[in-house]
Amino acid sequence: MALFGKNKKAAETLPLEDIILPKHVGIIMDGNGRWAKKRGLPRKVGHREGAKVFREITRYASKVGIKHLTVYAFSTENWKRPEDEVGALMKLFQSYLEEALTDFKDDDIVVRFIGDRTGFSPGLQKLMDENEEIAKDRDGMVLNIAMNYGSRDEIVRAVKIICAEVKSGRIDESEIDAKLVSDHLYTAGQPDPDLIIRPSGEYRISNFLLWQSAYTEFVIMNKLWPDFQKSDFDEALRIYSQRNRRYGGV
Ligand code: IPE
Ligand code: IPE
Ligand code: MG
Repeated sequence: MALFGKNKKAAETLPLEDIILPKHVGIIMDGNGRWAKKRGLPRKVGHREGAKVFREITRYASKVGIKHLTVYAFSTENWKRPEDEVGALMKLFQSYLEEALTDFKDDDIVVRFIGDRTGFSPGLQKLMDENEEIAKDRDGMVLNIAMNYGSRDEIVRAVKIICAEVKSGRIDESEIDAKLVSDHLYTAGQPDPDLIIRPSGEYRISNFLLWQSAYTEFVIMNKLWPDFQKSDFDEALRIYSQRNRRYGGV
């Protein structure tokens, strides 16, 4: 069940063709572990199911006309999970990224990774590079897969790069503004997310796109990610479409 608030009725009845499409959607793909636990299965089974849903929703987002999709797959904090869970996730990334080389070709999806990829094995890093290379001339939706991504990390990294540029004289301190900071984030050149969807009912951002989400609309949904369907994505779009974005104005 989604949390519509006072717009529940309107959002339910709005035809999909009448909605205002967000340009950039972020998804915190959360709830895999609880999905498995509810069924008495190991958490890694939940991750496997979550990966299938990721594929389906990504293709669907591209089909409905979303231009940028950013999915949160693994955070800088997720390393603190038990070794066997992290190991299972790495295996899943490995097999998934092998398939992804051809997977999104027909949909013309441009695959990119955001986050610190040096944290991954050389094999995984190579697969990430190959996926980006093979997809770079496609002109469909941009899919950012956030892996070993943490927004604080991203901002610290940007600050360090900017400092080095000032120190070397490439830029002057007076040139530092919000645009310049944005241009030094992993998402440089892409619009800020209009909508972030978090399944699994948690009301938090968990270190995802902190800078970029200054004026993002949040939709929290109670469904766990492996249960998330195209109709839930539609519902999130409808809820988004009913929001009144003011950006500090009136
Ligand atoms: C999201 O699902 C996947 C990752 C963080 C890698 P979780 O594994 O966090 O699932 P819950 O939140 O424990 O149910
Ligand atoms: C956020 O989910 C990260 C991903 C979905 C990849 P978490 O499950 O790690 O977040 P917390 O721990 O509930 O805040
Ligand atoms: Mg979680």
